[in-house]
Amino acid sequence: METSTLFEKTDRLVLRRFCTSDIDTFHFYRSNPEVATFQSWENYQYQDAQTFVNQQMNHQPNQPGTWFQFAVALAETNQLIGDCALHTPTVEPRIVEIGFTLSPEYQGNGYATEAVGALLRYVFHSLGKHKAIAFSDVRNSKSIAVLERVGMRREGHLLQNYMSKGQWIDEYQYSILRTEWEK
Ligand SMILES: CC(C)(COP(=O)(O)OP(=O)(O)OC[C@H]1O[C@@H](n2cnc3c(N)ncnc32)[C@H](O)[C@@H]1OP(=O)(O)O)[C@@H](O)C(=O)NCCC(=O)NCCS
Repeated sequence: METSTLFEKTDRLVLRRFCTSDIDTFHFYRSNPEVATFQSWENYQYQDAQTFVNQQMNHQPNQPGTWFQFAVALAETNQLIGDCALHTPTVEPRIVEIGFTLSPEYQGNGYATEAVGALLRYVFHSLGKHKAIAFSDVRNSKSIAVLERVGMRREGHLLQNYMSKGQWIDEYQYSILRTEWEK
């Protein structure tokens, strides 16, 4: 097993740095059309996964103007089951955006809720951020359920806010302040 940086840990999961042995699994779930339904990507290629993992292996979280992707793995086996993302904007790096994906065979076990909870702990406790936001396609009920389970509030309904697969899509913006998370 390759060594990897550990960012957060829960009872069942770790949030760690991606490593080259994750490429096959990462490609497997990213190229699944069901996983891509409400996401920006389509026809995700093996080479895309290789490039992505190699970039993330040499990248640090909390760099303004970039996304950092955390590998979500089972604590017992280190098996990759999905990922969580953190966007640190350049203009206001104290307000960050998060995202998340689980491989289909690991959905329905509460792992996404556990991973996003750990990501929020990292964002507020380790990085000391002011606010975390997330955008969800209004049709993505599973994503909305995760955001509400971790205590994020629906803060806005953004009409035709992004172009996906040739269609303008409405999104909800969800948020949580550090003061709310600390309660
Ligand atoms: C969004 C996504 C991560 C949600 O995954 P998920 O598996 O539904 O969410 P969780 O892992 O938190 O699991 C919750 C489910 O597990 C169930 N569950 C089973 N055992 C559980 C346990 N021990 N603890 C908590 N929940 C458990 C819950 O009851 C819930 O089931 P329900 O959906 O029937 O109510 C997943 O649909 C996905 O990857 N989609 C594609 C990518 C995407 O659209 N991402 C969002 C962009 S922001």
